[in-house]
Amino acid sequence: MTKKNIAAIIAAALMVVSLSACSSVRPQADGQAGATEQTSQTKPKVDANSSASIKGAASNQKEGQHTDSHRAVIYFSDPEGSDMNALEGSTQYLAHIIAQKTGADVFRIVPVKAYPTDHSAHTAQAKLEQSENARPAIKDDFGDLSQYDTIFLGYPIWWGDLPMPVYTFLESHDLSGKKIILFGTYGSSGLGDTPEHVQSIEKGANVEDRTYSVQASDVGSAKDKVLSWLSELGY
Ligand SMILES: Cc1cc2nc3c(=O)[nH]c(=O)nc-3n(C[C@H](O)[C@H](O)[C@H](O)COP(=O)(O)O)c2cc1C
Repeated sequence: MTKKNIAAIIAAALMVVSLSACSSVRPQADGQAGATEQTSQTKPKVDANSSASIKGAASNQKEGQHTDSHRAVIYFSDPEGSDMNALEGSTQYLAHIIAQKTGADVFRIVPVKAYPTDHSAHTAQAKLEQSENARPAIKDDFGDLSQYDTIFLGYPIWWGDLPMPVYTFLESHDLSGKKIILFGTYGSSGLGDTPEHVQSIEKGANVEDRTYSVQASDVGSAKDKVLSWLSELGY
């Protein structure tokens, strides 16, 4: 074998390694609250163990399936260009860690009309919905939520607020008497006033003060922090 052939084989091998390292989680949009344009992209760094957890969570959790659990994880996650059947959203990842640890049933808030896969169109539609205070229709497959006394509610921050489909969910379900524990992901801005917004809609619920949130770029290494937060909450 010539030196040229050996160099070509090494180059091909390096390319395979680098592509597979990039493929575990898609790039996340980094929208800035109040910004007119969203351009920067961050890619969560998922270490080998976290990546294994993502795959494990995907195969172990059947979303929407009812058990006799009194806990539910309900989340919205909409990474641009996502395959809704793949586990790749930042908030989705947190949701499955929480469900695995707490034994909760998992439900995803899914809009009837999917968001565009193109970045600019996606963020523009989200912005328009927010400016119109829209309530996009969601596939309401939650069934009877009365069996749950605790709801872990997760969402990404969109334009400094809850994504509008989360408002649709909250306003169509009376969660009075339940404990609501919030978790979320963001590009840079944190959860902002969203816990107060949830409490103002779900007046009869007990919204836990101790929320968990993480920047999208750090979500791949957040598992230990999520577990210690759950431990502080008694799970
Ligand atoms: C439409 C849109 C608006 C966003 N607005 C904000 C924002 O105002 N502040 C922020 O910190 N991140 C913002 N982001 C970034 C997301 O909160 C972040 O990427 C999140 O982790 C995505 O979660 P997901 O992968 O579960 O969908 C925005 C993302 C999108 C798609």
